[in-house]
Amino acid sequence: MNGRSNRAINQMTKTVLIVGSGSRENALAWKLKQSPKVEKIFIAPGNPGTAKFGKNVDIAATDVLALADFAQKNNIDLTTVGPEDPLALGVVDEFQKRSLKIWGPSKAAAQIESSKVFSKELMKQAGIPTAEYQTFTDYNKALEYVESHFKGSVPIHRRSQPPINGHATDTQPIVIKASGLALGKGVTICQTLDEAKAALNDAMVKKIFGESGSEVVIEEFLEGMEFSAHAFSDGKNFRLLPCSQDHKRIFEGDQGPNTGGIGTIAPLPWITQAHMDTIATTIVAPTLKALQEQGSPFVGLLYPGLIMTKTGPKVIEFNCRFGGPECESYMRILKTDLLDILEACVEGKLNELKIEWHETYACCIILCSKGYPDNYEKGLPISGIEEAEKLDDVIVFHAGTMIQDSIIVTNGGRVLGVTAVADDLKTALDKAYAAVKLIHFDGMHYRTDIGAKSLSTKD
Ligand code: AMP
Ligand code: GLY
Repeated sequence: MNGRSNRAINQMTKTVLIVGSGSRENALAWKLKQSPKVEKIFIAPGNPGTAKFGKNVDIAATDVLALADFAQKNNIDLTTVGPEDPLALGVVDEFQKRSLKIWGPSKAAAQIESSKVFSKELMKQAGIPTAEYQTFTDYNKALEYVESHFKGSVPIHRRSQPPINGHATDTQPIVIKASGLALGKGVTICQTLDEAKAALNDAMVKKIFGESGSEVVIEEFLEGMEFSAHAFSDGKNFRLLPCSQDHKRIFEGDQGPNTGGIGTIAPLPWITQAHMDTIATTIVAPTLKALQEQGSPFVGLLYPGLIMTKTGPKVIEFNCRFGGPECESYMRILKTDLLDILEACVEGKLNELKIEWHETYACCIILCSKGYPDNYEKGLPISGIEEAEKLDDVIVFHAGTMIQDSIIVTNGGRVLGVTAVADDLKTALDKAYAAVKLIHFDGMHYRTDIGAKSLSTKD
């Protein structure tokens, strides 16, 4: 009897494929495993953490054709995509062409993340609050622009603070972004003209981000607390998740280079219902409407990265998938069956589903390899994961790990995501940090101030 006829005995159960190999996908596998409707989980390519909840399949997340072949051969009922690269490559379009169910945006809708120029133009047209900007494909024109900004000869940007004597001041930073995907590294906040020149040279001349930097967006620096909104969408209807906060810089106090994200908390104690309503009506609803009107409705998870400015939340970027490590915190507080949510999105029935959350706080502390986000060593033995997971309310998700000679060793920059939940944020953080202390690998680095800013922020 093959898998399909087996499942015919119980129409309710489903086989799911998760695409990706990080702690985000480990968290998705952990949550889906709890669904009574999920019979079997495959993860492509997965990691030693995902192997606890399903079967890892040796297919790269970016091998779109091989993923679709696998889904066809193995009667996958629903595929869910973690990272942005397969979405930007059109994995959803390929699956749909073969009538395979998949959760995530089409290649056209995924441009909201894969092209900063696309997303900035969409925001401008739809009137979504964001930083003022200009785009450039010509290095000399971009250079001229930053020179005039730092000389203060033209009022380049609308400011949150009025410019002194109507002129730009040389203290106002400027943000230079490679337009395409650059693993979260294509953004430079430039305090001086020299820094801006170096950033333009890196992106447009040296092409350190490859073709991603052929076009750059230069934008106004927004001041305020950075945080993440997330919304499930079925193309027409959406449901906001609670807000969360990532910590992107490698060192305490938001110092050092940007990373893919190394610590999250959710929900945020300082976010009010009024903030949520503003995010829904001024950011998420008009973005989804604009995409729908363009003929590319967005199905999946829309993740606006936001800054809470003095005049309200403004978008610094859109992502077309779950944030990592936001997802790890979210999965710990999500009450509703994740499969029901994914299916409601794909079937256009999100308006029929009530999504519930536990009334707890969650956090995720990422343990990184020494040297990340630059060069780092791999293959270092990791100890203490089991001991850490014996602590109440702690779960350790794997990101960059692998098994070598029967032991778990490091295999990436972000190695593990240590999560905890509690009735209040401070206790959740204390529990996670107690678990972190039990884990060891050579050079292990983590931030000791995850959540600290939000804990000290009053509405
Ligand atoms: P992005 O890849 O666009 O999210 O940018 C990476 C990081 O740069 C963000 O997480 C912010 O911390 C910062 N950033 C990006 N754009 C701006 C901006 N316009 N103003 C202030 N900070 C920014
Ligand atoms: N939280 C950062 C990211 O997922 O891009």
